[in-house]
Amino acid sequence: MSIFKAILGICETKPLAETAWEASNGTATVDLKAAAVLADKGGAAYLKGKGLAKPVLVIRGDDGRLYAYQDRCTHGGRKIDPLPGEGKLKCCSVNHSTFDYDGKPLSGPAKHNITRYETEESADRLVIKLS
Ligand code: FES
Repeated sequence: MSIFKAILGICETKPLAETAWEASNGTATVDLKAAAVLADKGGAAYLKGKGLAKPVLVIRGDDGRLYAYQDRCTHGGRKIDPLPGEGKLKCCSVNHSTFDYDGKPLSGPAKHNITRYETEESADRLVIKLS
């Protein structure tokens, strides 16, 4: 990542197409058939809008599992990217705090966990429990 992007807090992760997910009654549901970006380890996308209180980062971890997080660093509120091949996440700021897949801070100034949401994955969909 360039220093320019870090200063502005710009992440590499892009929004998931609106046709690939929906939100209602405290859950977000991703249609995995329509979310090719989440098929491979290291893949990531974020959900924003549709009444969500906060953006949600969804990643396919190095262990092959899907994870969902509130897409905000607990230090200064910057968005978050996965670090493929390193088994962790990184805040998109110049301070770039890192977090493990449970959301626990590993390095940098963030001292508190990022919020990790409970998920249920089936063959063709991911249900994220936001409350
Ligand atoms: S906003 Fe993440 S380390 Fe400051």
